[in-house]
This record gives sequence, structure tokens and C-alpha cells, in this order.
Amino acid sequence: MCGIVGYIGGKPAAPVLVDGLARLEYRGYDSAGVAVLGSGDIRVHKDAGRVRDLEASLPKRFGGKIGIGHTRWATHGGPTKDNAHPHLSADNTVAVVHNGIIDNAGALRAELEDAGVKLRSETDTEVIAHLVASGNGKLEDKVLQALRRIEGTYGIAVIDLEHPDRIVVARNGSPIILGVGEHEMHIASDAAALVRYTRQVVHLDDGEVATVRADGYHTFTADARTTTKTAETVEWSEEEYARGDHEHFMVKEIHEQPDAVQRCLRGRLDERFHTVHLGGLNMDAREAREIRRVKILGCGSAYYAGQIGAQFIEEVARIPADAEPASEFRYRNPVVERDTLYVAVSQSGETLDTLVAVQELKRKGGRVIGLVNVVGSSIAREVDGGIYLHAGPEVSVASTKALTNMAVAFAMLGIHLGRIRDVSPADGRRLIDGLKKLPEQIASVVAQEPVLAETAKRLAQHESLFFVGRTRGYPVAREGAQKFKEISYRHAEAYQSSELKHGPLALISPDVPTVAITPQDELLDRNIGALQEIAARSGPLYVVTHPGVEIPDLAAAEIVVPKNEPELDPILLTIPLQLLAYHAAVALGHDVDKPRNLAKSVTVE
Ligand code: AGP
Repeated sequence: MCGIVGYIGGKPAAPVLVDGLARLEYRGYDSAGVAVLGSGDIRVHKDAGRVRDLEASLPKRFGGKIGIGHTRWATHGGPTKDNAHPHLSADNTVAVVHNGIIDNAGALRAELEDAGVKLRSETDTEVIAHLVASGNGKLEDKVLQALRRIEGTYGIAVIDLEHPDRIVVARNGSPIILGVGEHEMHIASDAAALVRYTRQVVHLDDGEVATVRADGYHTFTADARTTTKTAETVEWSEEEYARGDHEHFMVKEIHEQPDAVQRCLRGRLDERFHTVHLGGLNMDAREAREIRRVKILGCGSAYYAGQIGAQFIEEVARIPADAEPASEFRYRNPVVERDTLYVAVSQSGETLDTLVAVQELKRKGGRVIGLVNVVGSSIAREVDGGIYLHAGPEVSVASTKALTNMAVAFAMLGIHLGRIRDVSPADGRRLIDGLKKLPEQIASVVAQEPVLAETAKRLAQHESLFFVGRTRGYPVAREGAQKFKEISYRHAEAYQSSELKHGPLALISPDVPTVAITPQDELLDRNIGALQEIAARSGPLYVVTHPGVEIPDLAAAEIVVPKNEPELDPILLTIPLQLLAYHAAVALGHDVDKPRNLAKSVTVE
């Protein structure tokens, strides 16, 4: 969704800003713009459409070594040139970029109009530019005066013709990161925009403001108290954000999974005591033993990974566990229990629904840990402890390697909670050995890509598909359907195999294929029964199964994945579904990495 960049230093700002915006494209946007502070004026160039078009149309004279830029995802007003950021004050002395939503924008717009200000856009952001320009004192003072009038969420960056040596930024609910360079400073809402220039970053906290000059930064609070912030090193490099030889980020990230899982496991497996070490949980064994329930919260695919995790934890640690979409949980005034462990799961760490659920839990005294990929992200900063996923940067909107690592991290959490309860050393060893096998087994599934690509082409011909699974296989089916619909735009619906005869069987026909998760486990007979029900209605079958499973003669296409321990099988069963979705989308000619209507991190209501 929306992205912010800023630069102040010795180089021409515009190319640095445009480069940063291009690196934020993956988040999703519909318009883009930059503003540079030149000698005597602020020049703005913005438009609806792609960053590359913005770059191609940059005016020749667009000098200036201070600037801000933005990619916009329309909320207040359509995706037009006028609504694109940066926004200027009426006298063109102040320019602002903003992520977030100003709740009282309507009242402020009316007030400005009554005072004779001619508004140029339909956005909530524009009011900030006018309010700052009408303030008194240094730019920092003017920004603070404006922020006192504003209700809502924001990450902002402001430049001012009267103070041509600085950018002022502020954060409240929307990330702002400062990048510390050699005699230059960068600003971004996402580290992806600045790792090319520096890996030393400072994350602002909510309520913080910063003055950024070429030679450094000063952070302070709304009541002008200085805060002490030291730079941290971003673990991801520029190369990791590059697509390399792969045609799309999604397929690159699918191929990266063996290494990503290895990184997630590294240093955490204790083979001597057949358990795992999760130092980041910030919870001693006594506290962990007092947990009576586990509640997992995430959105979209992260929620499905949470369902895999809940089943693992309940099955292995014998603690009642369930997963719920954070987007629902936050609106239903849930009962928050002291002996429940709440787990927020998010790749980006910025998903607003999950973040608000965490904040609500904390307000009510809940203990919350995070399973998060992006270090220093909003959710990671909000929780009491957690497990970083170490999947590396994920650029594709369709999440793959982060989800796999979520499931792996849940397995480690389940083993940890189980081994301080009733799980035996032998069972601990069995599961640790299973985890160690995963990278190689995932690689062997990914190696089936050519065959899966052919299968995907066949599936892509159908307007509508079912994905079915039972118990451990059900979240796998849900994630498979989610991935397929997200990028192929086909109607893909997940169902419990057990529920088929209670309704969806009515839709089975030769036009509606079913991808059936059919593992070698204690429910194999029941799952084969479901396959027979589908075959009897002439529904085409694609069975995701294990070596040695005998599927009766149902004319089914088989996709065979290696067998692991039953509790860990869902992780492997998910991998071929990623490749089916990817190749179906490619066969249909879709823009795989930027599916229509979707953004990488969903930071709005
Ligand atoms: C995954 O393919 C989707 N793009 C989406 O469902 C995603 O998982 C969800 O929006 C949550 O994102 P997060 O993990 O960054 O919180």
C-alpha cells in the first residue's frame, strides 16, 4: 500500500527518490509523485500510474538535494494526478507525503475552505500541508502544531522552503524509518527503499517526530522531549530484494524455501534435550507451563498458517489452540484471558487488522507474542516477545516462503510448549528429526515444477475449482485455494472433505475440478471415500498425496510429496499448491507479482 521515501544529502534527490519508489512498487499503488526543494521553490511531479512513467516524464530541470516521494493507494478520492502525493500548501512553501488516514479530515477541510483556502485534491493529506504552512516557528514547531489538530494515523515527511536544510518526519501508526548514510540521510516507510544506500536504520516509534539533516537526525516526542535512538543494522541486503534470473518474485521465493526454512531452524534446535530454544519469547518455563490456551491471530494466508499452527500445538503440546482472523477478532470485543497465549502472525508485521488486535489485547492485559518476518516492524515492536521467521524479504504479493516459515515457527513453538509438559524425549526427537528433513524434502517438491506446470495449465482452463482436505489437510486446502484465486482470478473454494455431502457436492461436475489433500495418515480411508464421492459425480480429481498411497482407479491425477511426520506433513503438502497457483496464473497471462486489487501489506481498515 502507500509508500514514503525521502532524501537529504549531496546528490540530486530526484533519481534517489524515484529509485526508492520503484523498490516500494511491490506493496501495491495506483499513483506516485516526488517533490524536490530547489533554489527558491518546491517542484512537484506526480501522476496516476506507474513509477517508470513518472520517471520517464520527469522534467529536465528538477534539481535539488532534498526531496520526498510517495506511492499512493487511493483511500480519500480516486487515483488521479491531483490526489497523488506530495501535496503542497496553498502558497507552495510546504510539501507533504503521508501514509495513514486522517479521521477528522472532513472537518479540517471545511475549516480551511471557510478560511478561503482553495483545496486542490480530495485527499485527507492535503490538510496537513495547509496546517503546517500556517504554523509559526521552525519547521518542527509548525509540524507539531499541525499534528495537534489531526486525529488519525500517519507517517509523514514534510519539506519547507523556509527551512531548506531539513526534512521533518513523524509517526503515529504508520512506519517511518530513517536510513543513516555518509553525509546523507534517507527516509522510507519500508527498508526495501533504502537498503541500496545504507543498512543502518532507525525505526521511529509511535508519537515520535524527527528532524533529519544531511549530517544526522534528532528524534523527539510531541511535547519536545528528546528521545535516544541508535541505528540498527537491517539484516536484508539489496541483492535479496532482486529478482535475479527468475521471471517473477513469486517463483523466486518458492525456490528459496529450502534455504529459508534452514535459516528459521538455525540455532534453535536442541538435539541434546530434543527440544527447541526460542530465546525471543521472553517467557520462562514456569510462565510457559501456566498457559492453558493458545489463540492465534493473523489475516489471509497468515491466518491459514495459524490454523496449521493451532492444530500442531493442540496435537503435540495438548493445549487447546485455535486460530481466528485478526480482522474479525478486533471488532468483536473478545474476552481476554490471563492464561491464554496470544500469537500474532504476520509476514510484513504491518497488517493493520493484526496490529490493532495486538493493541487491543495489550490494552486488556493479554500476553502477546509475534511470529513476524520483518524485523523492527510495527507488530514486532508491539508484542511482548516472539519468533522472527528469517524468511528473507518477500516481495511477491502472494506469500509463499513466509507462510512456510510461519508453519515451521509454529511447529517449534508447539515442540517447546510440549517438551515442558508431557511430550516425551522420543517424541521430541521424532519431531526435531522431521523438521531437519524439511529443507531437502521441500527442494524435492519444488523440483517437480515442470510436471506441476502442466497440471496447472489444465486447472487454469476451469472457471471454478474446489480444494478439499480434512483436519490437518483443511488449512492446506484453504491456503491452496487462496493462492490460486489471488493470482489466477479463478473461483477457488476450500471445503472440509467431511462437509462435501452436506452441500458442495451439488456443484461437482466435469467442469469443476477438485484438488484433494489426501495424506497417508489415520484418515486416509475417509479421504478416499470423499474422492469416490467426487468421482461418482464425474468431478475431475487432482490428488495431493504421499508415496505408497493407493488411490483406487478414479482417473485422478496424482501429485506425490515426500512423507514426514504426520504433524509436519501440512508444511510439505502446501508446496505443490503454490506452484499450481503460480503456473496457472502464468498460463492465463496474469501479472503474478502484482495481482489486481491486492497489496502486499494491508495497512488500511
Ligand atoms: C497472501 O498470499 C496474501 N497476500 C495475504 O492473504 C496475506 O497473507 C495477508 O494480507 C497477511 O499479510 P501479513 O502476513 O503481512 O500480515
